Amino acid sequence: MNQPVIDVILSPAEIDLLPRRDLGGAVAVVFDVLRATSTMITALSHGAAGIRPARTIEEALELKAAMPGALLGGERHGERIEGFDLGNSPLEYGENVREREIITTTTNGTIALRAVEGAASVLAGAILNIDATAEQLMKLAPGEIVIVCAGTFRDAALEDILAAGLLISLLPDRELTDSARVALALYRQEEWDVHSAMRRAKNGRALIAKGREAEVEWCSRISALPILAEMGRDGVVRQAAPRA
Ligand code: MLT
Repeated sequence: MNQPVIDVILSPAEIDLLPRRDLGGAVAVVFDVLRATSTMITALSHGAAGIRPARTIEEALELKAAMPGALLGGERHGERIEGFDLGNSPLEYGENVREREIITTTTNGTIALRAVEGAASVLAGAILNIDATAEQLMKLAPGEIVIVCAGTFRDAALEDILAAGLLISLLPDRELTDSARVALALYRQEEWDVHSAMRRAKNGRALIAKGREAEVEWCSRISALPILAEMGRDGVVRQAAPRA
């Protein structure tokens, strides 16, 4: 079997170029560890029916008009959007979302997911579900894996690159681009204390400063949720059955 080539998109500037890239033969994994993909995976672990990432607030409201029973979630500047049902803290998504459709828009995470909708398969990744994601990639055995680090505003986010490196460390027999080697090196530097690295990341520090330390701790729990999260062709992120 050919070794998959793993590439890592490190920053939002590169994400902007992804819609022009042929991803038809690739599996894309999107990380927005603090907090969009961690929140999606947490919601799915509580039985949410599906999560539809919207690029903008306007798009989210248009989707809500077509799906009045759906919950509106997401953030701008880290806080719940006025008039929305939920913010973007994973700790807000519990039994209240069971069997509910959720429409969400966040600063970077939902943009990153939509940027790779042309890929053969799109997985929502986090530290929370890293083993389930790695296992699926090994079963799918694609020729190309594109790991997308959503970042924050226009900046790269250390926690996303750290998660990319953690995922790469779980995948044997692969060929790495230089950006993938950067991500793996970051993980190797921090692997003995991922929680500490998360707390030192800019987004981690910002959340802690706002009294949201519990969210950083939750998002740092390696493989706490055995949830495989996949965005379907319809643009909805759902819990997927692992490939047999
Ligand atoms: C993002 O999408 O940039 C983050 O998830 C923002 C956040 O949750 O604060």
